[in-house]
Amino acid sequence: MTGNGRVIAVDGPAAAGKGTLARRLAEALDYAHLDTGLLYRAIGLALLRAGADPAEEAAAVAAAERLETLDLGDPELRQDHVAAAATKLAVFPAVRDQLLRFQRDFAARPPGGKKGAVIEGRDIGTVVLPDAPCKLFLTASLEVRAERRLKELRERGVESIRSSRILKEMRERDARDQNRAVAPLRPAEGAVTIDTTELDADAAFEAAMNIIRSQRPFLDKG
Ligand code: C5P
Repeated sequence: MTGNGRVIAVDGPAAAGKGTLARRLAEALDYAHLDTGLLYRAIGLALLRAGADPAEEAAAVAAAERLETLDLGDPELRQDHVAAAATKLAVFPAVRDQLLRFQRDFAARPPGGKKGAVIEGRDIGTVVLPDAPCKLFLTASLEVRAERRLKELRERGVESIRSSRILKEMRERDARDQNRAVAPLRPAEGAVTIDTTELDADAAFEAAMNIIRSQRPFLDKG
């Protein structure tokens, strides 16, 4: 058993709506929430700040070993150059292994005395917690995801970015995440897919809650 039984795994590509959904689910169920992308981003940011190359395995593994010392609340983690670095170091099995324990501990003993956890990422249902009782796979068309990212950047005051560049970067990141040899992005066995191309955040939340309600007996067993 890799969790405490009360785990909701939320996987999917960038900007499919995982973050908003996972936060809302955690709040509604009073579960702890972990955005595992932040772990990969924190390692990427540490490497960039040290002037190291995130595509260089030895440096990436050394930074992953220092995960506990990294600040997961640093606002720079949200920036796209950090995401690009994260995707590069996420291909190394030794880096991923290093992060497994942290993620499984979180599921087994959710912080704050919470009775369960909502964990979002790319490989939660496939690799990190394959026996999670509830697995959701969020997806949306590339164009809609790029539009959402553009809107988010504009809201943060970034005006200079072009939508063609976002589309290109997102396509590259998708390809790297889907085609890597270890823990590639794909729906886990038993995952229920929610396509948010035409769903807003409220509708995605309702769809997820309906799935969770139907799986409640499994979740309550933990
Ligand atoms: O989810 P987020 O966009 O913050 O993730 C940044 C990158 O970290 C992803 O593009 C992916 O390469 C990597 N990642 C991963 N496995 C996870 C979470 C993130 O490989 N569980």
